Amino acid sequence: MAKARSAFVCTECGAEYSKWQGQCSNCREWNTLTELRLGGTARAASGAGAAQAARQGYAGAGGVELTDLSRVDLSELPRFSTTYSEFDRVLGGGLVPGGAILLGGDPGAGKSTLLLQTACHLAQQHRVVYVTGEESLSQVAMRAHRLALPTQGLSMLAETSVETILAMAERERPAVLIIDSIQTMHLEDIASAPGGVAQVRESAAALTRFAKSSGTALLLVGHVTKDGNLAGPRVLEHMIDASLLLEGSADSRFRTLRGQKNRFGAVNELGVFAMLEQGLREVKNPSAIFLSRGEEMAPGSLVMVVWEGTRPLLVEVQALLDESALGNPRRVAVGLDAQRLAMLLAVLHKHGGLFTGDQDVFVNVVGGVKVLETSADLAVLLAVVSSLQNRALPRELMVFGEVGLSGEIRPVPSGQERIVEAARHGFTRAIVPRGNAPRQTPAGMEVVAVERLSKALDAL
Ligand code: TYD
Ligand code: MG
Repeated sequence: MAKARSAFVCTECGAEYSKWQGQCSNCREWNTLTELRLGGTARAASGAGAAQAARQGYAGAGGVELTDLSRVDLSELPRFSTTYSEFDRVLGGGLVPGGAILLGGDPGAGKSTLLLQTACHLAQQHRVVYVTGEESLSQVAMRAHRLALPTQGLSMLAETSVETILAMAERERPAVLIIDSIQTMHLEDIASAPGGVAQVRESAAALTRFAKSSGTALLLVGHVTKDGNLAGPRVLEHMIDASLLLEGSADSRFRTLRGQKNRFGAVNELGVFAMLEQGLREVKNPSAIFLSRGEEMAPGSLVMVVWEGTRPLLVEVQALLDESALGNPRRVAVGLDAQRLAMLLAVLHKHGGLFTGDQDVFVNVVGGVKVLETSADLAVLLAVVSSLQNRALPRELMVFGEVGLSGEIRPVPSGQERIVEAARHGFTRAIVPRGNAPRQTPAGMEVVAVERLSKALDAL
């Protein structure tokens, strides 16, 4: 008989131990190990099977055939569209049969709305089952009705037992299975409460195994904790094929969908939606949506062009410098990396001769956009200078470029396209890296190409 086994899993990094310990030896966090009681069924049984195979000298494995890598079928993954091109873009071209996708985001981000809209449209062509563990069937139906979605053909189930869901799925064999959310699911075998690391991990594992073996595309909803991690951070990461994050600030109607991991495509694509009265609408040409076109630019404001996946995006960066009352002035970056901001301020002092060590520095990217690209460096620095000197910059100025530690301005990818995009939106002046100086300057655009930070400051 299989015996119940238990293991201890770090909730931070997912490392697994057979005994409890106070500190995780992998990520060095304290008190992060929680006990996983693994049921007698699946795991213990496979353990016994392995032991038996070992005794028999792996006799059963004799029939396995190896494949030469060059002979593996190169035909494209058989993808199918989610019916939303912004969603497909982030997935790398659509859903893949057997693929497991995690859709994360804050409560209220619009995960259920996005998946309900997708499910209703997909169900017109494919077999789709939507399992809700959070809302009742009538709540979901009311929402679908209000959003005027085609509801016929979509199979619904209000259920939280993974065993029941799997039995249903084995029978129905849907092309797409949606679980909203993984935090509400539970397996009977596992002692802990739903939402705990053990339940989330084992429920996701069971569902993912089903997806792989049946060819069903699996979409799991996961809520994000305050620090931006999924409950039981990283414990799901190795099981799923793609992890997407739906984000948006509370005061903005725009929602961005970004890939954090994707075995089927690139992770740098950004999908953009607007949350309207009638649900989520795709924004297919988002390049200028984050620009607020006020009359006057305030000191500290500057527009930059970032490159998101395969598209340019014009975004405004704002800096506010204020004399610090503290011995240790604050550096706060919203939508940017705070470490990088600290580095840029050091470069500004060393190579630009401008001291900000006695100032609190706040930098914000408008519209709740997260900028992960180094092309924002120069714009951030010039916005800081603008606030420091309390001098507004011209409205029609656009800036991009990476700043190096020795004060050099480095070129970034797709320079020409960024300049063209800014010109399209009426910008007439640009400060860009020398390496990105355009061969052909768009009509009406004056481009200053600089090699060093000091030159950029002169150009200001
Ligand atoms: P929801 O999809 O329930 O979020 P999640 O599943 O990520 O928790 O979205 C809820 C929010 O979206 C809620 O604050 C209201 C807003 N919303 C609209 O503005 N318009 C709509 O048509 C819908 C359905 C929701
Ligand atoms: Mg929801």
